[in-house]
Amino acid sequence: MTAIQINHLSYTYPSQAKPIFTDLTLDLDSSWKLALVGRNGRGKTTFLRLLAGQLGQQAGIKSPLNFAYCPRSLPRDQSAYLSLLGEQDFELWRLEKEMNRLRLSPDLLDQPFGDLSGGEQSKLLLALAFSQRDVFPLLDEPTNHLDAASRQEVADYLKKSRQGYIVVSHDRTFLTEVSDHVLALENGEIHLYRDDFSGYQTSKQHRDEENLARDRQLRREIKSLENSRRQLAANARQAENSIHSRGKIKPDRKAELSDKGFLSKRAAKVMQRSKNVARRQAREEAAKQGLLSNIEAAPRLDMNFKEDYHRELFVGRQLSLNLAGRELFADLDLVLPSRGIVALTGPNGSGKTSFISWLLGRQGLDCRGDWQLQ
Ligand SMILES: Nc1ncnc2c1ncn2[C@@H]1O[C@H](COP(=O)(O)OP(=O)(O)OP(=O)(O)O)[C@@H](O)[C@H]1O
Ligand SMILES: [Mg+2]
Repeated sequence: MTAIQINHLSYTYPSQAKPIFTDLTLDLDSSWKLALVGRNGRGKTTFLRLLAGQLGQQAGIKSPLNFAYCPRSLPRDQSAYLSLLGEQDFELWRLEKEMNRLRLSPDLLDQPFGDLSGGEQSKLLLALAFSQRDVFPLLDEPTNHLDAASRQEVADYLKKSRQGYIVVSHDRTFLTEVSDHVLALENGEIHLYRDDFSGYQTSKQHRDEENLARDRQLRREIKSLENSRRQLAANARQAENSIHSRGKIKPDRKAELSDKGFLSKRAAKVMQRSKNVARRQAREEAAKQGLLSNIEAAPRLDMNFKEDYHRELFVGRQLSLNLAGRELFADLDLVLPSRGIVALTGPNGSGKTSFISWLLGRQGLDCRGDWQLQ
């Protein structure tokens, strides 16, 4: 059932000169589990926000659906229940049913929304989006903040859902599990694939490989046309110079030749011929340039690290961290080297963000033990 019709939609942010979308036309079915993919900054969030009506009414979008965009920022100080209620109507039993399917305890609804961990907030908003029948969920990176176990729970939840949705994620495994259609934003164009994410990846990879091979061949041909055009121009210049210099060497014939316009005629003929050939080659070159594919390439990223003579950035022994009287962890021995990259892992709610907040000197966290920070 086509439920979202997009007709000649163009959109440019008021503060930007370049449009994000130009003349987009596309029909989407509300039963699809649609993965919206594209590199950073290609317009995925913008597309969802346009559907959700957050960027003003768009004449180019027609749909009878009510859209629920996730994530949303909710009041943090009141109970999660009241915060959700302020956001969207729902029946409590339905919400609790969805929470149960996402393995969330109903007790969370009584806690201030801001006290819930990032993962709990994400799952609760997901439960809300699916707890009303006539709402179509637009899920913008729903696995953010989720640990591996919760990510799998959300993937299983979405797989089992009978309701369609649009989901954006940079997690390929997750997308393969939860999608049956793909909408790809590539180089300002939008392409619909009636396949899951892994099928889309395979066909995209084949297409990119074919395009790259064809581009390499075209570039070789363009280069050789360029070289021969340059050679032609050099030959023409040389021919012209040699005619003029011959004219200079024989002053007795110069008057005669220039009188008859001989030198200029011959030079003009040579120039005209080489110009014609050069023009033809330039046309060929431009045609080949036009055939080059618009393949997305990642720019090189350089980092400029300043070396530090300390070997250790942080040394802590027997650390315990308490937040609002609750012990997040205890007896932690930790050494962070000053070079390299450290992965801080742990299940949702185990204190990773709190630990970094404490390292950054934020208030409200009580850390005990011996520690030294360079
Ligand atoms: N409110 C805004 N005003 C002006 N420009 C914006 C605004 N929001 C986004 N943009 C710009 O629009 C472009 C698309 O942004 P968008 O957030 O839709 O990308 P995205 O595909 O969701 O990227 P990501 O994968 O990083 O989330 C970017 O260049 C961004 O800088
Ligand atoms: Mg985005």
